[in-house]
Amino acid sequence: MPSLSIVSSADAPSLDIRPLTSKEERREAFAVFRQALLGIGDLGSSHPEIEARFLAEGEPLGGFEKDLLRGVVNGYASSVTLPGGRCVPHLSVTHVGVSPDATRRGIARQLLVEQLRRARASGYVVAGLRASDTGIYGRYGYGIASWSVRHELDLTRAALAIAAPRDGLRIVDAHESFPIFRQIAESDPTPRATTLSRWDGWWAMQEYRMLHGTTPHHAVVFGSEGKERGYLRFHIEPSDNWFTSSQRTVIVDDLVAHDDEAWRGLIGHLFTQDILHRAIFPSRPIDDPLPLLLRNPRTLAISGQRDESWIRPLDLAALLSARRFGGARQIAIAVDDDLFPENEGTWSIGPKGAAKTEERPDARIAIAELAALVFGASQASALQASSRIWTASAEVAEELDFTFSSNRHPHSGISF
Ligand SMILES: CC(C)(COP(=O)(O)OP(=O)(O)OC[C@H]1O[C@@H](n2cnc3c(N)ncnc32)[C@H](O)[C@@H]1OP(=O)(O)O)[C@@H](O)C(=O)NCCC(=O)NCCS
Repeated sequence: MPSLSIVSSADAPSLDIRPLTSKEERREAFAVFRQALLGIGDLGSSHPEIEARFLAEGEPLGGFEKDLLRGVVNGYASSVTLPGGRCVPHLSVTHVGVSPDATRRGIARQLLVEQLRRARASGYVVAGLRASDTGIYGRYGYGIASWSVRHELDLTRAALAIAAPRDGLRIVDAHESFPIFRQIAESDPTPRATTLSRWDGWWAMQEYRMLHGTTPHHAVVFGSEGKERGYLRFHIEPSDNWFTSSQRTVIVDDLVAHDDEAWRGLIGHLFTQDILHRAIFPSRPIDDPLPLLLRNPRTLAISGQRDESWIRPLDLAALLSARRFGGARQIAIAVDDDLFPENEGTWSIGPKGAAKTEERPDARIAIAELAALVFGASQASALQASSRIWTASAEVAEELDFTFSSNRHPHSGISF
């Protein structure tokens, strides 16, 4: 079973960690992140007003050695949906970076652990992030809480199995319609597990990408004016000669649909654009129903399964009480968590809810794998098969499949 190693090594530098509150400090922190990531441009020089909006509402922490800023972590307040539809406070962790000349000395470890401690103390139930690499965050108790796949649809050959509704569709200005997109995203009545509430800085970044992208962006909404139930935002893949190309492709940036009819209508819109040859959806749920909407599902290439949401439970009692569980009986699960002793111990989880128990455990699960189970990203029997959890028997693992079952796979659909 994987174990956490939260404790810093003895030779880790002594770091002064504190919140970065002023506009200047936040800009400096973002510059450290930019230097660390190497692949992003200097937003502060080119568009200081966008950068200011982007950084205004974060909760960055800086790690200083003798007044020198060595590393940063940032976090945005949001909430995340659980299977069943309830939401809990979620710190959206981002901008994790250490100066290129100070890596591999335990600076990120100290910052990430301090961030988790502070987040729990301020009432966040979970922390969550998107990882630049899958090797970084498991050691801090983050587990993969949703997966995504890439869809590539060959519009020259694909045909819909049903007639998609066209009546409710309306082309809107992709630049001017952000208030409508926000309203639609915020009022989704049936979001999948791991769906996040989107903060102002996240929207600011979408607007920035659209304004400064090299190709045109487009958008369509579904539903009557004022009562829209979905939208599709997409942009054109760069092409040397769009006019004569036989590979004219669009890339879907965002798709929100409140119900199946809205989803069919928005997907159907792509089929009515005869100019197009291909549509790429970079991130869709692994159980997306799109193949079933096609008369010839081989025209949809599904590839690139990858980790999407990484979630770290902070307040396990609050997390478990916000979720309903299935199965035929309560199961006693011993939880390992090196960082938060409050989460450790044996929990009785099942149709009667979740509470600490003195019973002998039927299973032993580390906090990262518990996140995968609670959000419905992995089945207990699969985690057992790969020795990521321990269960007293194969039957207990199968029972746990029912305990944590949910009707749809988790998927957030946004990056940050
Ligand atoms: C990731 C990063 C913050 C780690 O900072 P750091 O201070 O060197 O981290 P620590 O010294 O506390 O821990 C280093 C550990 O992280 C691992 N690690 C760092 N980057 C990694 C990567 N891209 N892939 C896999 N492991 C990585 C190191 O191998 C090391 O593991 P080890 O102790 O088992 O050898 C730093 O490398 C960085 O700024 N990278 C570029 C920006 C980035 O990718 N940020 C994450 C965005 S999600």
